[in-house]
Amino acid sequence: MSAHQKSYSVVVAGLGKRGIHHADAVAQNPCLRLAGLCDIDAGRLEAARAKYGVDQAGPEAAAVLQAVRPDVFIFCTLPQVRLPLIQAGVNSGARLIAFEKPVAVSTNEAIEMFRLTRAAGVKTVVSHQHRYGDHYRKVAEIIASGAIGRVHTVYGTAIGWMMHMFTHLVDYASWFNNYASPEWVAGQASGKGKFTDAHSSPDYICALVQYVNGVRGIFESGENAPDVPEVDSMWHKCRIGAQGTEGFAEVLTGKEGKGGGWRAVTPKGAHSGPGFMDYAHDMPPYIQDIVNWLDDDAKVHPCNGERAYQGFEVMMGAMRSVVQRGRVALPLGEGEPELDALQRVLP
Ligand SMILES: NC(=O)c1ccc[n+]([C@@H]2O[C@H](COP(=O)([O-])OP(=O)(O)OC[C@H]3O[C@@H](n4cnc5c(N)ncnc54)[C@H](O)[C@@H]3O)[C@@H](O)[C@H]2O)c1
Repeated sequence: MSAHQKSYSVVVAGLGKRGIHHADAVAQNPCLRLAGLCDIDAGRLEAARAKYGVDQAGPEAAAVLQAVRPDVFIFCTLPQVRLPLIQAGVNSGARLIAFEKPVAVSTNEAIEMFRLTRAAGVKTVVSHQHRYGDHYRKVAEIIASGAIGRVHTVYGTAIGWMMHMFTHLVDYASWFNNYASPEWVAGQASGKGKFTDAHSSPDYICALVQYVNGVRGIFESGENAPDVPEVDSMWHKCRIGAQGTEGFAEVLTGKEGKGGGWRAVTPKGAHSGPGFMDYAHDMPPYIQDIVNWLDDDAKVHPCNGERAYQGFEVMMGAMRSVVQRGRVALPLGEGEPELDALQRVLP
């Protein structure tokens, strides 16, 4: 039993699919106490309040946060709802704010969000939690061991569209490249059908990335991305990996019973193993790493917001590249909101 059992209080806002995943993992963690809940949907709020037995609950995040003044604020709203919740979390004195990908809907919004959290010394965590999958870890371990030689290329593809999938791809590929900073991005996109989706996106986008260590990144997301025939589940058709001077290693995200796993070719031969994306497996260690970072500043969360911001800039830079017709240098400054600008220029 931990010395600080139940010592950190948590408010969770946005109690849809992902909010409930988070609330479940918080409720199971011996060092965390679920102290407040928030959703604008009364039915979802009441169901969650009954499930977790939490007193403080309401439709206004700022009010719940002021009543609880938690150590940790977690919000899992759709991408359109970010900056006001960051502001409410900072105002409440939370020490750590964890939220869902993608970071924001525009660079302007992300700049303001991180200006607020950095100025207040609030730690941030963004939910790129697929990395806790055993097959993802295996690929990272093979690459880090040097078994594929010097990494020169990292890549990630997903059939799922950009605002759902792109930053997942960049985050894990960047992990395989030791999170070297991206220097520039060149992108292309097509199709306007998905701009009206809640995860507003071009139907397809691709990006080439130059990292400061000379490694090239290649990313594709949406309807024209390559199929992953080994996986029989649309959202899980993702292939993310690295090529080196001596071989390659890659993960196929996968779903239980629908394929997935990892494979590598190294000078010792061809290797492979099973694996699939599983929230029940991936959420507890993701939440535990929040506790670890609160306990010890040196135990920085692997999904910390600064890394997520870097990956988010690749996605935003790719859209700007389509609009500006050229290579876009990172980091980005303020500019025309990328989704609007892209929608305007696509035929
Ligand atoms: N990390 C992952 O693996 C993963 C997987 C799926 C979705 N996501 C991301 O999670 C986020 C949420 O997705 P979801 O599928 O859980 O959505 P959802 O629609 O199931 O849930 C969102 C909830 O937020 C509530 N909400 C909206 N505005 C609010 C506000 N101002 N205050 C409080 N609550 C509010 C809604 O009523 C709803 O219950 C998205 O950004 C999505 O991209 C991440």
